[in-house]
Amino acid sequence: MLKFTFEQIKEKFDRCVIGNYTRNPIAFVHGEGSYIWDSSGNRYIDLMPGWGTTTVGHCHPHVVSAIQKQAGRLIHIDNSFYNVPQGILAEHLSNRSFGGKSFFCNSGAEAIETSLKMARLWGEEHGRFEIIAMGGSFHGRTFGAISATGQEKYHRGYLPLLPGIRHVPFGDLSALEDAAGADTCAVLMELVQGEGGVNVADPEYVKSVRSLCDEKGILLILDEVQTGMGRTGEWFGYQNYGIEPDIMALAKALGGGFPIGAVAAKPEVAGFLAPGTHAATFGGNPLACSASVAVFEVIEKENLIERGREVSKAAFERLRRMAGQYDVIREVRGKGLMIGIELESDGREVFEYCLRNRLRINCTQGRVLRILPALNVSLELLHEGLDLLESGIKKVGL
Ligand SMILES: Cc1ncc(COP(=O)(O)O)c(C=O)c1O
Repeated sequence: MLKFTFEQIKEKFDRCVIGNYTRNPIAFVHGEGSYIWDSSGNRYIDLMPGWGTTTVGHCHPHVVSAIQKQAGRLIHIDNSFYNVPQGILAEHLSNRSFGGKSFFCNSGAEAIETSLKMARLWGEEHGRFEIIAMGGSFHGRTFGAISATGQEKYHRGYLPLLPGIRHVPFGDLSALEDAAGADTCAVLMELVQGEGGVNVADPEYVKSVRSLCDEKGILLILDEVQTGMGRTGEWFGYQNYGIEPDIMALAKALGGGFPIGAVAAKPEVAGFLAPGTHAATFGGNPLACSASVAVFEVIEKENLIERGREVSKAAFERLRRMAGQYDVIREVRGKGLMIGIELESDGREVFEYCLRNRLRINCTQGRVLRILPALNVSLELLHEGLDLLESGIKKVGL
């Protein structure tokens, strides 16, 4: 590829790319493991790879090779026919989760749309239509997904939203009990609200939600777009809670950075997505599915679920020690390698300090610093990153 300076790249963006993102003034051109390089050749530690997509590290050789091989064989075939990688991927998903069946799409928001549509189809048969979602949640940017998202800022300018969705406070069982009635077809929730500030659902609450759904004949949809694929110390977040969902939405880490989304559902619910009800031209595309199969293989071969747990333990030990040292840290929370560090004040300055010093993290909800490292980041690199984060916290002198 031609070499461009940052200014040349930015000029193209300013002229030709819609400005809906707040972008930092850096263009990344290369990645390897938990390192990324910008267009001037500077190397960064990446503790927030691809907004949580690159769980096996940037450009893992096995994933790269699977994409290259499949690209030379067949990039795309539509769903009027069968394709080999889609079948293999569906089997991996089924074997690693609850033995259900999958539908493939291209993103998290689409996986949520599909889940909502599946629930409505099931609900039509059962005389139910309403979906209850959680306050503080985030489910993506399509109309159905923003309607389910429990944060008003994402609704602004888009009203009226999709009807038949209401919100209850996250973690409040009695509010859910009051809201769930004869019209309710599904409850939709994240087990760890990521964008919402890394809020971890209480195990007793989750078990009670599952029991309530069972008692009242309601489907439980889990949005595992961010918690799936080993992020929380298990293949899927629900496996930490001793329950199973009826429908599970996946994306982000499913393709190790390659765009792919999926919905896995119990067979008795999956059947409602019958021919003609739903489709996606690129869904289950052989190239995307090959990348995803390679991600499953890497996680298994390199024992990355276990590895992620070790990295998580080290990260939490270090961050909790820091929380004891610096008053500005209000709380360290999360599950596995989905970690939030809530500050007493705005986190923007720490975020910017880190970026200037070649560490990539994230800041959500104004004051929650967030890291979603690759499961195979080395402990040495993790600590190097956390050293920078610590000096950011000290420097900003909060
Ligand atoms: C929990 C959750 N659901 C859905 C989405 C939407 O995914 P996408 O951006 O791939 O549409 C996100 C994205 O951050 C997410 O974190």
